[in-house]
Amino acid sequence: MSPSSSVDAPSILKRHGDAVNGYFKVLRDRYADAPPRLLDSIEYSLMAGGKRLRPALILECFAACSAGSDTSLGRQTALAAAGAMELIHTFSLVHDDLPAMDDDDLRRGRPTNHKVFGEAMAILAGDAMVTVAFEVLATDADPAALPALVRELAAASGPQGMIGGQVLDIDGENTVLSLDGLQRIHRMKTGALLTSSCRLGAIAARQESLLTAMTDFGRHLGLAFQIVDDVLDVTSTPEQMGKATKKDAGKGKNTYPSLLGLEASQREAESQLSAALSALEPLGSAGAGLRALAKFVVERTN
Ligand code: IPE
Ligand code: IPE
Ligand code: MG
Ligand code: MG
Ligand code: MG
Repeated sequence: MSPSSSVDAPSILKRHGDAVNGYFKVLRDRYADAPPRLLDSIEYSLMAGGKRLRPALILECFAACSAGSDTSLGRQTALAAAGAMELIHTFSLVHDDLPAMDDDDLRRGRPTNHKVFGEAMAILAGDAMVTVAFEVLATDADPAALPALVRELAAASGPQGMIGGQVLDIDGENTVLSLDGLQRIHRMKTGALLTSSCRLGAIAARQESLLTAMTDFGRHLGLAFQIVDDVLDVTSTPEQMGKATKKDAGKGKNTYPSLLGLEASQREAESQLSAALSALEPLGSAGAGLRALAKFVVERTN
């Protein structure tokens, strides 16, 4: 797999998105004995047309880090990591939308999982996505890279990563946090999975020497991503986003626009973007696709 020479983010997202979607179809056959309604509930949210940004980052970081010297085992490992990450991300969305959390009715352009399948099934489908994610890695990834991959994905998802960030987000409702406090939440609830996606690409490529660059890139990109998510909650529409907008203020959420205003938030997202682009310098021309994805994150409209 060569790094994308195209600078067109939509086509990079489509190419890597198609790869991970194909992989999910294969996976379904492995769970033929599971309760059909559970499989339907998982598939409902997983195949609802997310942007597949995290899989695209994993596969593009893998390609950029291996720079043409990839193996078929490496490609299979990167694809398994991409599938596992998207499962964890989708679990986080299904649970984030539950009445006990953000209480949302629309996600990825569809009624939320609990609206269709009920709360118990939405909780269990999310739980199952976590176990499937780790089973997928254990089954399909390069055994030599497996401990590092599992540690990486678990740490990014867990108490000091996404789940910890979700706790701080909920606990911070209706209080006004400092900018440092808010940045910590954003780096954890959203940044952790995005940073980890970049790192997983380097680990699958067995190019640990590029981990520092990938971590730096992912940290800046991850923060930019959640700042833009906060901005779009104010400026966009449900039709465009496929999820409710203009809800954060009413829920008493701490967001960049609530602390800094819209313009300063946009400027901060752009400054994070330029730091992310600088972090890609060690990759040279192999980083073209990642540069395009980073710009997309800040310029996106959904
Ligand atoms: C939404 O993530 C949740 C946040 C971390 C803000 P995405 O905007 O990547 O959602 P999908 O995967 O495209 O649905
Ligand atoms: C959620 O942040 C991050 C997750 C871990 C899902 P938000 O609550 O802002 O995400 P959206 O706006 O509902 O997608
Ligand atoms: Mg939330
Ligand atoms: Mg939410
Ligand atoms: Mg949001």
